[in-house]
Amino acid sequence: MSFWDIRFWLRSAKADADLKRFRDGRGAAEAFDLLYGKDLDPWGFEVPQFSYQRQKYDTITRLVPDRQFEDALDLGCGIGLLTQRLASRATRVLGLDVSQVAVDAANTRLAHDPNIRFEQADILQLPDDLDGRFDLIVVADVLYYLQPMSDAVLKAMALRLRRLLKPGGVCVLANHFFFEIDPDSRLSRRIHQAFAWSPGFNIRQEYRRAFYLVSVLDAA
Ligand SMILES: C[S@@+](CC[C@H](N)C(=O)[O-])C[C@H]1O[C@@H](n2cnc3c(N)ncnc32)[C@H](O)[C@@H]1O
Repeated sequence: MSFWDIRFWLRSAKADADLKRFRDGRGAAEAFDLLYGKDLDPWGFEVPQFSYQRQKYDTITRLVPDRQFEDALDLGCGIGLLTQRLASRATRVLGLDVSQVAVDAANTRLAHDPNIRFEQADILQLPDDLDGRFDLIVVADVLYYLQPMSDAVLKAMALRLRRLLKPGGVCVLANHFFFEIDPDSRLSRRIHQAFAWSPGFNIRQEYRRAFYLVSVLDAA
């Protein structure tokens, strides 16, 4: 692990500690707005020396099946860095995030690109009019923030995301995974197990290496 990996890990831990404080009695939208209001890049995703994020985006875009998609959805898109990359693989890309502050920043950053747009939405309360609209969904480092968190919530989430897909659609799930003894990493494993369990998906590919897990799932 390099000096920069340690800096990245410390910054992520600080962002998650801030988030825990902001959560106190607040819903996800308000808590994440406070986090992004304090720093528009809380986890340092734009810091070029932090290779975790860059490698994660590289791995995800490499694992996305090699075809041109029509409508891609980036769930929990933050300030839209991964969304921007997905735009090379899909005709239209929609980024949704619970934080209006992040969505505003993403819309400002990518205002020049008419094929990408961002809206505020809670992944736990996705409107039914999104159903069946996407042939690619990407969910990167989002689901471990869900509250309440349980295997039942994760399995329900897998079924809900399946309903968003067109026939033949693909869902790509990515979550950080550092060490087996790390409770957050164990939660990442549970998330991937819940999606693997789901009757709505067939596993096309699983990537299991430091420092993240990626599952590529075909709509069953
Ligand atoms: C660690 S960031 C990951 C951002 C982006 N997916 C990436 O990989 O660059 C987690 C994001 O999930 C969003 N998020 C957390 N809970 C959410 C929810 N219930 N609904 C939608 N977005 C959520 C946060 O606002 C935040 O932008």
